[in-house]
Amino acid sequence: MSTDAQPTWRERWEDHYASGHTPWDTQITPPEVEAFWAAGRLGGDGLALDIGCGPGTNVRYLARQGLTAIGFDIALQPLLTGRQRIATHAADVADRTHFVQADVTRLPLTGAGAAYILDVGCFHGVRPTERDSYVAGIVANLRPGGYYQLYAFDRTPEMAADPDRKLMGVEENEIAQRFTPQLTIVEIIRARPDRYPCRWYLLQKP
Ligand SMILES: C[S@@+](CC[C@H](N)C(=O)[O-])C[C@H]1O[C@@H](n2cnc3c(N)ncnc32)[C@H](O)[C@@H]1O
Repeated sequence: MSTDAQPTWRERWEDHYASGHTPWDTQITPPEVEAFWAAGRLGGDGLALDIGCGPGTNVRYLARQGLTAIGFDIALQPLLTGRQRIATHAADVADRTHFVQADVTRLPLTGAGAAYILDVGCFHGVRPTERDSYVAGIVANLRPGGYYQLYAFDRTPEMAADPDRKLMGVEENEIAQRFTPQLTIVEIIRARPDRYPCRWYLLQKP
């Protein structure tokens, strides 16, 4: 516990996983991620990062494409689960799959030269005051020509009214404001609303 008895961000997420209420852990890679790789925009090698990877379904998917894949999460429990789930994979896939416990607003690497960075459902929960350092970490670790793919909830009036600020969402035009011109927006697709209106964003480093 932190000194003021408020759970820290990490504790909040550890509690989520301990409660067993993890509806995002479908163990299905989103079709939009599969479509990205099917489109052949990148070859299946190099480095991929998964930001807020949870139990790592997409980390393992990226390793199966041939990439070296590193998943980052602030909570330990999902990373342990992710590591257990590698057991069913071929040894070479397991060797290319890595999990690191870290706060994605303070990534423990810079200049990693990643070909692809994925975030499925993490950025929309990052506090606005932490978002500049999140963005700096993405930009610093993507190689020129590399892609950043993001799935995020839009910011709704319900989120804005929540005193606990559990979910912050993403403001209209926020991705353009925060990420350009360091990254270029390739496409923004409105997804079928999940719990909230949501979008897939694809950006590229020039
Ligand atoms: C909605 S879950 C999505 C997990 C995973 N991407 C998936 O699709 O299954 C959001 C994840 O982000 C992680 N997370 C939230 N804030 C984080 C932060 N500041 N640094 C690292 N991970 C964070 C949580 O622990 C959680 O696993």
